[in-house]
Amino acid sequence: MDWQGRKVLVTGGAGFLGANLCHALAARGARVSALDGFLFGGGANPANLEGAPVELVRGDIRDIDLRPLCEGAEVIFNLAAQTSHMGGQRDPLADIAVNAVAQVRLIQAAREAAPEAVVVHASTRQFYGRAHRLPVDENHPVAPPDANGVSKFAGEQYWMLEHRVQGRPVVSLRLTNCYGPRLRIRDARQTFLGIWIRCVLENRPFEVWGGAQTRDMTYVDDVTEAFLLAATQPECYGRIFNIGGSPPASLHELAEMMVRIAGPEARYVTREFPADRARIDIGSYYADDTAFRSATGWRPAVELEDGIRRALDWFRPRLEAYL
Ligand SMILES: NC(=O)c1ccc[n+]([C@@H]2O[C@H](COP(=O)([O-])OP(=O)(O)OC[C@H]3O[C@@H](n4cnc5c(N)ncnc54)[C@H](O)[C@@H]3O)[C@@H](O)[C@H]2O)c1
Repeated sequence: MDWQGRKVLVTGGAGFLGANLCHALAARGARVSALDGFLFGGGANPANLEGAPVELVRGDIRDIDLRPLCEGAEVIFNLAAQTSHMGGQRDPLADIAVNAVAQVRLIQAAREAAPEAVVVHASTRQFYGRAHRLPVDENHPVAPPDANGVSKFAGEQYWMLEHRVQGRPVVSLRLTNCYGPRLRIRDARQTFLGIWIRCVLENRPFEVWGGAQTRDMTYVDDVTEAFLLAATQPECYGRIFNIGGSPPASLHELAEMMVRIAGPEARYVTREFPADRARIDIGSYYADDTAFRSATGWRPAVELEDGIRRALDWFRPRLEAYL
């Protein structure tokens, strides 16, 4: 698709993935509106949209009138979410209000104001729960390990229902751990890698919890590319796809890689998994994303080592804006 002049709505547009997507869309000439409620504890940061010619609407998807925002949109990238797993455990009602109830609000508003719009929904691998087999494909059973997994699954299913019943072109991308520029690095709320990056750049040891769990990581530019492709390839419509990334590595291997890249000052300590987090941990995971690769030709372009280097280089001069 030629994005030039196309009207696009990005919910969660000031967050980590949403802002990177906004930059990419604006660079391709799209007319982008970003909706974000700057929710406490999430990845929203005003610095994320600096330099992007994007209309930022500060509003909460739970109560803002969504119809004017949807009006005329050709594509809706739907990334707004309560993403904290511990937050969801503490307050499951607030969690479901954003991740499921507000999704139904958006579905209803889009039905009235943007009946033709393609929707690409940001979903998660989290609700597969502990993997029965690796790698995990889209047919793996769903067994959410926490309240956030339940609400994210419900949100996705409402969107897929909209495809089945109303015929709307909807694609759901089940993402794995994503990282790169504009990640929340202030604390450990947005993947372990965020706080690792902060510690390394502040010359403090970072903590590895457990260490044997394996993860695949997707560099944010590859995630952005996946969203753009999903929106533009009709063979994706009505389907759910896993998005993977780098070959799986254990947290210890990732920590060693981080130290190798960052230099001799960087160091880490290994800690036992905190009990409250261990209860909702999914163990080892990596995605089988062959379906998306076959449908679109997508494959991750940024290797892990290169991606970590790029992320460190990006944050180094901008650290203050992200603390
Ligand atoms: N980053 C990852 O590794 C990852 C992995 C799996 C799934 N996802 C999904 O991708 C999407 C984006 O995640 P992210 O990592 O960019 O997180 P993020 O927290 O950086 O972005 C989410 C954005 O949504 C906004 N938001 C939350 N509630 C809102 C509300 N009620 N009204 C308006 N805006 C609201 C937040 O302020 C935030 O800017 C989410 O749906 C998330 O579940 C991300």
